[in-house]
Amino acid sequence: MWRAPGRVNLIGEHTDYNDGFALPFAIGAGVCVAAAARDDGLLVLTSRQQGEQALAVPVLSLAPGQPGGWAAYPAGMAWALMSAGHRIGGASLAIDADLPAGAGLSSSAALVCAAGLALADLYQLAVPRAELAALGRRGENDFVGAPTGLMDQLAVLLCRAGHALLLDCRTATGTAVPLDTVAAGLDLLVIDTRARHELTDGGYSARRQACEDAARAIGVRALRDVTDVSALSPLGDPVLVRRARHVVTENRRVLDAADLLRAGQLDRVGPLLSASHSSLRDDFEVSWPEADAAVEAALEAGALGARMTGGGFGGSVIALVPAAATADVTAAVAAMFARRGWRSPVIEPAVPSPAASRLS
Ligand code: GLA
Repeated sequence: MWRAPGRVNLIGEHTDYNDGFALPFAIGAGVCVAAAARDDGLLVLTSRQQGEQALAVPVLSLAPGQPGGWAAYPAGMAWALMSAGHRIGGASLAIDADLPAGAGLSSSAALVCAAGLALADLYQLAVPRAELAALGRRGENDFVGAPTGLMDQLAVLLCRAGHALLLDCRTATGTAVPLDTVAAGLDLLVIDTRARHELTDGGYSARRQACEDAARAIGVRALRDVTDVSALSPLGDPVLVRRARHVVTENRRVLDAADLLRAGQLDRVGPLLSASHSSLRDDFEVSWPEADAAVEAALEAGALGARMTGGGFGGSVIALVPAAATADVTAAVAAMFARRGWRSPVIEPAVPSPAASRLS
């Protein structure tokens, strides 16, 4: 039995595919895979969330698009392992999750990485975790067709309990920084707005493309290499300037937030979170109405800062809240959703949790 957690990205959104910085942490909810090797060469997949009907494909005939749907995630990992020269045979994988899909909490990376750990263990492959993360991304990009960066897979595989992970996405390395909400008397609330997103929709890849266009036009390898927004003026196109400005300013905010965490000043991170949200809403334009409303209601009710987390266009918001104000913030956000006639949000404190592992 293997399990991989979801993640919340504290700050650093749409920076990973720009070779930039991000600061995710693993959460308590995740994906479990019960797995066994098979000697008939079949990959047999079942999911409790998808009706338990088994889907069987010979591992040797896995190819992008075959299978599709949810099964493409674990199958894509098997395919990526084989494409990288790792020898695997058949396996039965039975999947169960307490992590909602499409909530911006990285259910895809959790599924992919849980399957990857299981296959690597069953076939005694010595795959370092950073490499497994890269293979997971390859499966998501080339097999599933979701053009993600590397943040989620690294977070799922490398995070530590009680810590966030400062990721340098150019080198694909992470450094643990303390994130102890209890000691700080704070809660990090995850507000699932229940508006759903799909990374295979066009918005995510359009943002990626804009960032690549901006980097090429300025003559840098990636937007990570721009640290001063004044370097963006030659871009001319105001939309491209705004997209790139988000990435440049967000990288700075991530490094500032990591410095505050290292200094034990989680209580001062709030304004960076709120600034990140404004930038994602106004410059990068990946926010959605429920997220903007949740952020606004949380701040009015006493949150120190709040922002959307994940790729955007749906999913979750996080709010950094003094523990004494958690009940007020929760009630205020719920009341705002009720007033607007939206489905009730699901609001829970997040606990920085360990990375994926074998359970038994
Ligand atoms: C999704 C992707 C990540 C990252 C975020 C935005 O979660 O999977 O790679 O790009 O969006 O920060």
